[in-house]
This record gives sequence, C-alpha cells and structure tokens, in this order.
Amino acid sequence: MTSDGSKTIFNEQVGENYHSRHGALQESKHVFLNSGLNYYLERKTEKKASILEVGFGTGLNFLVTADHCIKNQIQLNYTGIEAFPLNQDMIAETGYHEYISEKLWDSFLTNYSIALNGATHINDTCLLEIAPEKLLNFKSEYLFDVIYFDAFAAVHQPEMWNSESLNQICKFVKPGGVFVSYAITGELKRAMKSLGFSIEKVPGAVGKREMLRAVKL
Ligand SMILES: C[S@@+](CC[C@H](N)C(=O)[O-])C[C@H]1O[C@@H](n2cnc3c(N)ncnc32)[C@H](O)[C@@H]1O
Repeated sequence: MTSDGSKTIFNEQVGENYHSRHGALQESKHVFLNSGLNYYLERKTEKKASILEVGFGTGLNFLVTADHCIKNQIQLNYTGIEAFPLNQDMIAETGYHEYISEKLWDSFLTNYSIALNGATHINDTCLLEIAPEKLLNFKSEYLFDVIYFDAFAAVHQPEMWNSESLNQICKFVKPGGVFVSYAITGELKRAMKSLGFSIEKVPGAVGKREMLRAVKL
C-alpha cells in the first residue's frame, strides 16, 4: 500500500517497488499523464497521441492514461515494452479498477494476454500492444509522440539508464515528441541533450522535488 492508498508491487529480485511509495496513483497522474501526455496535447490541435512506455508492469500508467483519453475523446495508441510480463491474476489484485471506468477495467483484463501478442482494441478509440521483450530488443516501424520512461531506479537497474538504453528508446520518438521520467540526474540530462532533446526540470511527484521532461528537437 502506498501513501495515497493505491497499491504497488514489490519486486524481490530487484529490491524495489513498481511505483513511488508516496503514492502509485498520484505518481502515474503527475509524471506520466499530466507532465507527459497532457503537456504534449496542449501544444497540438489534434486529439490523438501515440505513447511508448518502458516498463509496462501492472499497466497502471496505461489505465490512468486510457481512462483520461476515453473520457476526453482522445484517440490513443499505446505500446508498452515489458521484459517480464506479470500474470493477469496479479494485475487483477492491484485494485486499480477503483480509479477507472468499469468498462475499461473489464476490457483491459479481457484483452491483456491478447495485447501481449499484438495490437488489440480496448475500445473504439484505444489500441494497446505490449511487447514482451527487453528494451534493447524492441523494434517498431512507428515513431511515437510521447515516451513514458518508467524503468526501475538507476541504483537498482543502472543498465536501463545508460546511453545504449536511452539511445534505443529515443530512436522511436517523433520530432516534437515528449519524453518524461520520474527521475532526473546530471547524467540523464547530459545523455538526453546529446540525443537531440531540449530538457526541462519540472516539479516532481509527491516525494520528489523535480523530474525530467525532454522534447525532441
Ligand atoms: C518501475 S516498474 C514499471 C511500473 C509500471 N509502469 C506500472 O505502472 O506498473 C519497471 C518495469 O520494467 C520492467 N523491466 C525490467 N527490465 C526491463 C527491460 N530490460 N526491458 C523492458 N522492461 C524491463 C520490469 O519488469 C518492471 O515491470
């Protein structure tokens, strides 16, 4: 249980939670939905976006985003990369149905294993695909509008934050596309600049002073 009452999962091998202990839900809304997708959409006239997430995990970021998009008539194409997909029973135990519409929750659970095998419609305006592989093996013919970078922290999984991994994910961003992460370090800022992004420190979620937002030039 995290501080805002939403649940997370603890990964014993890595030694870390999937979300901030200060609130899984508030982190998802602040870092990814508001600082990422909504920031991107505020600068566009079209109500549609494609999102690529690193570390799909429980699907909380997808659920919060999809719920917002469905309620606001925003067309959403969402791809999550996940090296170690959780089984559906564990996802069903998160209690995340409390934060989204019942229809979305039911469709997500029904389509979760299908999405692990390719793009599937969650509803008329929302498409989900989960790539069950490591970030470095991910391939796509598409470029994306927004990147949700939700890897485990660098102290636990440093290889996710090195220039090889960042270079790999940034290959899939459109010019003008937005990259957000809950973390911000000097090394991350330098790496993103060298990959052709303008970077910005923005207020972090509860428990973190700042986070990184980067826009592809
Ligand atoms: C901080 S958790 C993500 C939490 C997730 N966004 C959620 O809302 O539940 C990090 C995720 O990255 C996944 N992961 C670890 N190594 C990976 C790799 N090399 N490529 C892709 N995903 C990886 C983990 O299995 C875990 O699900």
